[in-house]
Amino acid sequence: MAVFTCLSVNAHKKNEPKKGILLVTFGTSYPEARKAFDNIEEEVKAAFPKVEVRWAYTSKIIRKILKKRGEQIDSPAEALAKMGEDGFTHVAVQSLHIIPGEEYENLKLTVNAFNKMPKGIKVAKLGKPLLFVHNDNEKLATFLSNKFEIKTDKKSAVLFMGHGTHHQANIYYPGFQSYLNLNSDRFYLGTVEGFPMLEQIIPRLKAHDIKKVVLTPFMSVAGDHAKNDMAGVEDDSWKSVLEKEGFETEVVLKGLAEYDEVVAIWVEHLKTIFEELTVEK
Ligand code: CO
Repeated sequence: MAVFTCLSVNAHKKNEPKKGILLVTFGTSYPEARKAFDNIEEEVKAAFPKVEVRWAYTSKIIRKILKKRGEQIDSPAEALAKMGEDGFTHVAVQSLHIIPGEEYENLKLTVNAFNKMPKGIKVAKLGKPLLFVHNDNEKLATFLSNKFEIKTDKKSAVLFMGHGTHHQANIYYPGFQSYLNLNSDRFYLGTVEGFPMLEQIIPRLKAHDIKKVVLTPFMSVAGDHAKNDMAGVEDDSWKSVLEKEGFETEVVLKGLAEYDEVVAIWVEHLKTIFEELTVEK
């Protein structure tokens, strides 16, 4: 009997899962924009104090720029392979993207591929991006509305700058606009590379007799797009175009991931998959 118990204890120890977390973002080449990522890491570590947290960037261009500066950041596939080598059996991969667009879809393919590999990690699960189901949209819209309400009045509006994409998930941007409008018609969401663009927003601002526009990023970090395309001094930045159109502007250079309430939505998605990691199907 004693021998039997001993054996089963050993067997248990050998099969004990080693769980890890991999946070995956597009990335940024702006060191000062990374405080947004530091904030995410802080919140994730607070929610999972005993779990090792690693990072990967999906953007090859950004990884290349950082490599030239002597900094090595893994792609999701590299990070998952290393985690397998380091003995992790179960990995919760959390997408830090805003919408389920191309970056997210590609990450899903990578995570699924690792689930099919004979060695390395046994189970990898992917957490949903910031906006996925109705509840996510509602929570984010409520938070942003409360946060920026103070910036709005009869003549002032807040214009969020989203990234935008050719992917069908671009519909999340005009979709999120509807959620913002539940609270106020003083909130606008435009995109740099999708729909709607600034030129489609300006007539709406004028129709509402808006005189002042507060610009702020609808991206995880206040990086290149926020600093240049949104708030830059060049003629074609949103700030310059709006000023040329006669609007007064104000810039709030803060990425979404700098707000704990926003990070909480990602952390909630992470908790969901983390719990599912070791559940037998
Ligand atoms: Co971009």
